[in-house]
Amino acid sequence: MKRTPSDLLVVFLAVIPLHFASSETLPSTSSTKCHEQERSALLEFKQSFFDAKSSVCSLYGHRQKLESWKLEDTNCCDWEGVDCDEGMGYVIGLNLSESCLSGPINSKASLFRLAHLQSLNLASNNFNYSQIPSAIGDLVELMSLNLSSSSFKGQIPSQVLKLTNLTSLDLSGNYGLELRNPSMKTLVQFLTKLEHLDVSWSNVSTPVPDAVTNLSSLTSLVLRYCNLRGTFPTTIFKLPRLQLLDLDSNPELSGYLPEFHLGNPIKSLSLWWTNFSGSLPASLGNLAFLSKFDISYSNFSGNIPSSIGNLTQLTMLDFGINKLSGEIPSSIGKLIQLSYLALGTNLLSGEIPASLTNLTNLTFLDLFDNQLTGQIPAEITRLTQLTYLILSFNILTGPIPKNISNLESLDYLDLQSNNLNGTLRLDVILKLQHLNKLQLSSNEFSSIIEPSMNVSIPNLSALGLASSNLSELPIFLSYQRRLQWLDLSQNRIYGPTPPWFLNGSMSQLQFLNLSSNSITSFTTFKCQNLMTLDLRFNEIQGLIPLPPKSIEFYLVSNNKLYGEISPEMCQLSSIIILDLSKNKLSGVIPPCVSNLSDSLIVLNLNSNDLYGRFPQLQNDVCGLKMIDVSDNRLQGLLPRGLANCSDLEFLNIKNNQIVDTFPSWMGSLSFLKVLILCSNGFHGAIGEPEARDQFPNLRIVDLSINNFSGCLPSAYFDMWSAMKVHDADYTYYYGTLVVSVYIFSGDPRNNDHFITMINKGNLLEYERILSYLNGIDLSSNNFIGEIPNSVGSLTELQMLNLSNNALTGSISLSLANLTELESLDLSSNKLSGMIPPALAQLSFLGFFNVSDNHLFGPIPQVNQFTTFTIDAYEGNLGLCGVPLTKKCGNPVEALPLPPPPSPPPPPSGALAEKLDWKIVLMGFGSGLVIGSVWG
Ligand SMILES: *[C@@H]1O[C@H](CO)[C@@H](O)[C@H](O)[C@H]1NC(C)=O
Ligand SMILES: *[C@@H]1O[C@H](CO)[C@@H](O)[C@H](O)[C@H]1NC(C)=O
Ligand SMILES: *[C@@H]1O[C@H](CO)[C@@H](O)[C@H](O)[C@H]1NC(C)=O
Ligand SMILES: *[C@@H]1O[C@H](CO)[C@@H](O)[C@H](O)[C@H]1NC(C)=O
Ligand SMILES: *[C@@H]1O[C@H](CO)[C@@H](O)[C@H](O)[C@H]1NC(C)=O
Ligand SMILES: *[C@@H]1O[C@H](CO)[C@@H](O)[C@H](O)[C@H]1NC(C)=O
Repeated sequence: MKRTPSDLLVVFLAVIPLHFASSETLPSTSSTKCHEQERSALLEFKQSFFDAKSSVCSLYGHRQKLESWKLEDTNCCDWEGVDCDEGMGYVIGLNLSESCLSGPINSKASLFRLAHLQSLNLASNNFNYSQIPSAIGDLVELMSLNLSSSSFKGQIPSQVLKLTNLTSLDLSGNYGLELRNPSMKTLVQFLTKLEHLDVSWSNVSTPVPDAVTNLSSLTSLVLRYCNLRGTFPTTIFKLPRLQLLDLDSNPELSGYLPEFHLGNPIKSLSLWWTNFSGSLPASLGNLAFLSKFDISYSNFSGNIPSSIGNLTQLTMLDFGINKLSGEIPSSIGKLIQLSYLALGTNLLSGEIPASLTNLTNLTFLDLFDNQLTGQIPAEITRLTQLTYLILSFNILTGPIPKNISNLESLDYLDLQSNNLNGTLRLDVILKLQHLNKLQLSSNEFSSIIEPSMNVSIPNLSALGLASSNLSELPIFLSYQRRLQWLDLSQNRIYGPTPPWFLNGSMSQLQFLNLSSNSITSFTTFKCQNLMTLDLRFNEIQGLIPLPPKSIEFYLVSNNKLYGEISPEMCQLSSIIILDLSKNKLSGVIPPCVSNLSDSLIVLNLNSNDLYGRFPQLQNDVCGLKMIDVSDNRLQGLLPRGLANCSDLEFLNIKNNQIVDTFPSWMGSLSFLKVLILCSNGFHGAIGEPEARDQFPNLRIVDLSINNFSGCLPSAYFDMWSAMKVHDADYTYYYGTLVVSVYIFSGDPRNNDHFITMINKGNLLEYERILSYLNGIDLSSNNFIGEIPNSVGSLTELQMLNLSNNALTGSISLSLANLTELESLDLSSNKLSGMIPPALAQLSFLGFFNVSDNHLFGPIPQVNQFTTFTIDAYEGNLGLCGVPLTKKCGNPVEALPLPPPPSPPPPPSGALAEKLDWKIVLMGFGSGLVIGSVWG
C-alpha cells in the first residue's frame, strides 16, 4: 500500500498515540514498484525478527503486519507498514509498531540498508534489551524515529547525533535506556530541528539543559520518569511553539511557574509528582489554549488565582495533593468544558462555590481532604454526567441532597468523614442504578432508612457505613451478591451475627471490617475469597472462628475468645497479619505456627493465657517483622530460630516466664528496633558483644524486672548507633511496617480514595516505654558497678531508667550529653556524690528521680530542676536545698545561670506530636490501614 510522506508524520499531540489506519482492506493506490535490494532487505528483516508467538504478541494482541510480507509478492511498496516515495520507489517510511518483532538487534540488521528512510517506527516490539544499534546513524535522512516501548537498553549511541534532520524522536518506555554520553544536553545541541522529543523512562539523571530553549520549533517535550534533578529552566515554558510539556514523575526536579504572557500556545501542562513549588501566578489566566493542567502531588502553595476562570478551554484540571490554601474561586464555574476537576488534599477552606454546579460536563469531581464547610449545594445534582463524586474528609454539614438520585451516571460516591447529619436515606441513594462504590462512613447521621426489599437496587462492590449509628446489620446486604469490600466498623451492632450474614450470599467478599461493635458470636462463614477480616473490639465469645484459606489479615483482638489456638490455623498459608491479642486463649501455641513464618509478618498474641514454649521457628525463611507475645505465661528459652528472622523489627515478650540469658545471638538482626524482655526470668551478666556492630538499629531496649547481674552493658552502649544519630523519620515503628504491608497488597487496579486514618492514640499502647522513640530501661535488676561514660554517647536517648539496681559510684557527668533526655530515673541504687549541676542543661527533662541513693550536696536550682518535687530526692540523707527542707548553706548553690531554656514539651506526648499519622491509602482488596493492629 501507499501513503504520502506527510501521512507518516505522527501527530504527537494526541494523548492516545495515533496509529496508522488499519488498511488491509484498502486497495493499493499506486503502481510504484520497489527496489529489489530493499525488498530483500525487508524480507530478511522479517525472517530474523518476526515471531508470531512472541510474548508481546500474545500479551497485547498485536496484529501481525508482517504476515502480509510474502516472498512471492514482488511489490514491497504494497506491503503493510511500508511506504515508498512516488518518484524513485525507495522505501522512505517503515512502520513496524506492534508487529511482534522479537529478539536482539544489532547494526548488521538488514533494516539499516534502507538508506532512504525518512520515518522509522519500531515501537512496541521486543528487542530483548539490546542497545540501540549504532547503524541507526546511517539513516541520515530520518525525520521521524520512534523506538518507544521496545525493550532497548543501555546508552543511546552517539551516532544518533548524526540524524540532524530529525523533527521527531521518541525513545520513551525503554526502562534501562541511558542518556549520559551523549547526554540530553548534547542531544538537543545536535538535533536542533526537533519538534517532538520524548525520552520518558530513560535515565537522564541531570538537570534539564538550558539548551532545550534553543529548540525554537519544539512543540512537545515529554520527560516523564527521567530522574531529572536541579531546577527546571523557566524559559522553556516560553518556547514560542510549545504546546505540550509533560514532566510527570520527577520527584527531584524543582521549579516554579513563570509569569505567562498572552498568546502562550501551551495546551497541556503536566507536572504530576515533581518538586515544583511556589504559587500559581495570576498570569495563568493568559494560557488561553490550555486544555489539560495537572500539577498534582507537587509542592505548590498559596491561593488559586481567580484568573483560573479565564482558562475556558480546560477539560482536565488536577491540583490535588499540594499545599494550596484559601477558598475555591467561584470563577472556576466558568470552566464549562471541564470534565475532570480534582482539588483534593490541599488546605482549601470556605464553602463549595455554587458556581461549580454550572460545570455540567464534569464526570470526575474530587474535593477530598480539605477543610470545606457549609452544605453540599443541592444544585450539585445538575451534574448529571458525574461518575465520581468525592467530597470526603471535609467539614461539610447538613443533609445529602435529596435529589442525589438525579446523578444517574454515578459510579463512585464518597462522602465519608464529614459532619453530614439528618436521616441517611439509603433508599434514595440506592436508586442510583450505576452505583458501584459507596462510602458514607463517619458522618453524624441520626438514623437510616433502608431500601425496601422489593425495589431494585444496584449491586455494590464496596460499601462503607462505619461509624454510622447502625444497631444491626442492614438487611439489604442479604441480597448484595457482588460485594467485595464492606466496612461496618464503629457502630452499635450487637448480638450474634444473623444466619443470612456471610452465608453464601456474599461469596465475593474480600474485605470485611466489623470492628468496634458489640457482636457476641460469629459463626462459620462461606467467604472463600476473604482476605481481610477485622473483628477487633467486639464481645465475641467461643473458639477462634476459623477463617478461609484466602485470609491475609486476620484481626480478632479485644474479644472474649477462649480455648486453644487450633493447629488448623497453621494451614492459613497466605496469612500476613495474625492478631489474636487481648482474648482469653489458653493452651500452648501450636508448634506448627512456625510453618507460617514465611508469609507471616505480624504475629500478635499479646494478653492471653498461653503457656508452654514459644514455637521453635526453625524455618529457614522467616519474614516476621513483629512478634508480640507479651502478657502470657510462656516458659523455656527464647527460640534460637528467631535469629533467622532477619527482617525482625519488633520483639515484645514482656511479662512471661522465659528463663534465659541475654540474647546476644540476636545482635546480627540489623533491623531490630524494639526489644522488650521486661518481667521475665532473664539472668546473668549481659557480657561483652560477640562481634562488632551488634543491634545497630536498636532504639528501644527494655530489660527491666529480670535478674540480670554484673555491670551495665557499656560495650553495647557504644554499639547502639541508632540511638546516636538524629533521624528525621519518625515513622519507623509499626507505622511504616503496617502501612507498607497494606499498600503492597492493595489491588493496583482499584486505586480509589478509600481512606482510613491511623489513630495516633492507638500507638500509645505500650505507653511506658513506647512513647519514646529512643529509650533504655534496665530497671529492677541486679546491676552493679558504675554508670559507664559510654551512656553519654547515646545522644538521641529520650528515656533512661536504671532504677532499682545496685549501682555505685557517682552520677556520670556524661549524662549531661544526653540533650534529648525527657526522663531520667536513677532511684533506688547506691549512687554517691553530688547531682552534677550540668544536668540542669537538659532542657527537655520532664521526669527526674534520684531518690533512695547516697547522694549529697546541693540540688541544682535552675531550669527544669525548679519543677521536680520532693519525691525526686527523698531517701538521700546528704541532699539539700529546695524542694527539700534541709538548707545548704554552701556557696556552690550560686552557680552561674545557663542561657534561658526553651519551654519543655510535655514529655509523654512527644511521639504523638512528632507523628502525623494521617496516611492516605488507596485501594480496596485489602487496602485499609489498620492503625491499631496493636490496639
Ligand atoms: C535534511 O533536510 C534538508 C531539507 O529537507 C535536505 O535538503 C537535506 O538533504 C537533508 N539532509 C539529509 C542528511 O538528508
Ligand atoms: C480574563 O480575561 C479578560 C479578557 O479576556 C480580562 O479582561 C480579564 O482581566 C482576565 N481576568 C483575569 C482574572 O485574568
Ligand atoms: C460537553 O462535552 C461535550 C462532548 O463530550 C461537548 O460537545 C460539549 O460542548 C461540552 N459542553 C460544554 C458546556 O462544554
Ligand atoms: C451559571 O451560569 C449561568 C449562565 O452562564 C449564570 O447566569 C449563573 O450565574 C451561573 N451560576 C452560578 C451559580 O455561577
Ligand atoms: C445538622 O447540623 C447543623 C449544624 O450543626 C444543624 O444546624 C442542623 O440542625 C442539623 N440538622 C439535623 C437534621 O440534625
Ligand atoms: C560529652 O560531650 C563532651 C563535649 O561535647 C565531650 O568532650 C565528651 O567526650 C562527651 N562524653 C561522652 C561520654 O560522649
